[in-house]
Amino acid sequence: MSPLLAVERLTKSFAALKALNGVSLAVEPRERRALIGPNGAGKTTLFNLITGHLAPNGGRVLLEGEPLTGLAPHAVARRGISRSFQRTSLFPRLDVGENLRLAAAADGRGSWNLFGSVARLAAPRARARAVAEQVGLAERLAEPAGRLSYGEQRQLELGVALATAPRLLLLDEPTAGMSPEETQHMTRLLAALPREITLLIIEHDMDVVFSLADRITVLHYGEVLSEGAPDAVKADPRVYEVYLGTGDEG
Ligand SMILES: Nc1ncnc2c1ncn2[C@@H]1O[C@H](COP(=O)(O)OP(=O)(O)OP(=O)(O)O)[C@@H](O)[C@H]1O
Ligand SMILES: [Mg+2]
Repeated sequence: MSPLLAVERLTKSFAALKALNGVSLAVEPRERRALIGPNGAGKTTLFNLITGHLAPNGGRVLLEGEPLTGLAPHAVARRGISRSFQRTSLFPRLDVGENLRLAAAADGRGSWNLFGSVARLAAPRARARAVAEQVGLAERLAEPAGRLSYGEQRQLELGVALATAPRLLLLDEPTAGMSPEETQHMTRLLAALPREITLLIIEHDMDVVFSLADRITVLHYGEVLSEGAPDAVKADPRVYEVYLGTGDEG
């Protein structure tokens, strides 16, 4: 069986800086993979290369064996890859339902649906309601996004990413800036997502990582330092060194 996502020897430089240096990894269908590593390791850059927001200097990305390299972000989205960003991307004056309906109508597989039939417009409405349920915002559909708490806004961002019914969901630090309670809530929401949505998640909170991930990939200075099941990665002395030891960062 071929992996859902294959990253092959990806390289990305910013001027003299090699942000990624020959990174390869494969994510199986239904897998929940965590991507960890110190600040500046290249995690977000890897997401940007997968989604077409940046072009690599070398290597390629394949979804179910088909190369994505060179596709624009909207074309990558249409293949079934959705992502959330480290920074918020909501319409603060629109309510929760409207934010979700717009995301559903802009469906990664098509273009904007605004001039579609009533049936096609009704579908995003139903989809928005289902997604609101999925991200714990069913009671907040009529609330303007800008009036939600910080944690709820992050839940809504997850909803926006889910509204396109992705096969592969990339989440960049979904619990960043959250209180412990908000983090626990988000972790439960993520754990409850259907397995049909394969997850690749960048996360600094190790409790979140160890409660969600089937496998962990550790990036360090743009290279894969370690990869494997959570217990194996935890026991890897190189990982220990990067996070807790005499390393010069993290
Ligand atoms: N557009 C860019 N132009 C120049 N340098 C960049 C750009 N994007 C990232 N970098 C640099 O590339 C390196 C990797 O950055 P990246 O954002 O991928 O790290 P990260 O692992 O996501 O870190 P963090 O945990 O802090 O989010 C860093 O040194 C960063 O400063
Ligand atoms: Mg980052």
